[in-house]
Amino acid sequence: MSERVVLAYSGGLDTSVGIGWLKDATGKEVIALAVDVGQGGENMDDIRQRALDCGAVEAIVVDAKDEFAQDFVMPALKANALYQKRYPLVSALSRPLIAKHLARVAGELGANSVAHGCTGKGNDQVRFESAVAALAPELTSIAPIRDLALTRDKAIAYAEEHGLPIKQSKKNPYSIDKNVWGRTVETGPLEDPWNAPEDDVWEYTSDPAAGLPGEDVVITFSEGIPVAINGKAVTPLAAIEQLNVLAGAHGVGRVDIMEDRLVGIKSREVYEVPAALTLINAHEELENLVLERDLGRYKAKVESDWANLIYDGLWFSDLKSSLDSFINHTQAHVSGDVRVRLEGGKATVTGRKSEQSLYDFDLATYDTGDTFDQSHAKGFIEIWSMPSKISARRQARK
Ligand code: ARG
Repeated sequence: MSERVVLAYSGGLDTSVGIGWLKDATGKEVIALAVDVGQGGENMDDIRQRALDCGAVEAIVVDAKDEFAQDFVMPALKANALYQKRYPLVSALSRPLIAKHLARVAGELGANSVAHGCTGKGNDQVRFESAVAALAPELTSIAPIRDLALTRDKAIAYAEEHGLPIKQSKKNPYSIDKNVWGRTVETGPLEDPWNAPEDDVWEYTSDPAAGLPGEDVVITFSEGIPVAINGKAVTPLAAIEQLNVLAGAHGVGRVDIMEDRLVGIKSREVYEVPAALTLINAHEELENLVLERDLGRYKAKVESDWANLIYDGLWFSDLKSSLDSFINHTQAHVSGDVRVRLEGGKATVTGRKSEQSLYDFDLATYDTGDTFDQSHAKGFIEIWSMPSKISARRQARK
């Protein structure tokens, strides 16, 4: 039996040509694996058939939408994960999941390598290969575009020459990645950081300036996970899908940033993440209500480390699983309702309540019924400011 390679297959030009290209260059049989993470667009059966028509010995489709939402997005939500405070890690979350299935299928079908359609300039190559290395260190990774000189022009020529069934979609200047947690857009006119995103960039969100009347949505969380929207029970996947529609209609979740890639390049990136930003806003605000102060402050530091780790492709690392243990522990009391106003491109929390609330009206109120003994404050501040006072005296002696 000849050697086999499992290719992460999207159905697009590069990975379709990649099937024959890999076989020609390595002599390996190619198994195509298409993982549905909610990217939408084409029917997965059509994608499967195209892989076979392009020469794959087997083509496998996995519906991983629920798995993605539960096992990859929910940990990110518990971590309020935003890379550079803005990017909810859309692609960075799907790569370890796809890698997990690549490694699984390689094991099941006796392949000794995996392949992906990434270039050598981005983060995704690192994420795929680091994840595979952590899960199945015996596998090697091949990237036809990076390692086997498969360029765009060569791919088009190859597809024509071999009569591959790839309809060249109308020329889209952007490089796009999509899943339920959001949509990423780069290249084309966006490569000039001064160019404002044009209207053709957007797909998940409507124009925030369209003047749609605002709308309230109530999100119920249980231990950090959304379990109901407007009182109706939802799975994590359904919560995300529904909020993408609801918040997307109000133009919530448009992000435009200069991003620091792991490989050292600065890159201009545009994201559409309506559900992600709505959920993270709501979740974070519920935490403000129920987390003890020092825990909240400490968690914020862990969140930023967690986001960097995931961005950098270390999903299956010991540090990441240890941080997850901490974060999961913090979620024990993160249950309750958050009301979010969706309006003009913003998702603004306007109300929160929880049986686990640490808010004490009697302590906080300035009205009658105040139980906070203000006389204690004077002595507290005296001791609290002692180190500053001593230091100031030394300063004065100089
Ligand atoms: N810059 C984002 C990231 O690194 C998005 C990458 C999208 N990937 C792609 N192949 N277009 O996570």
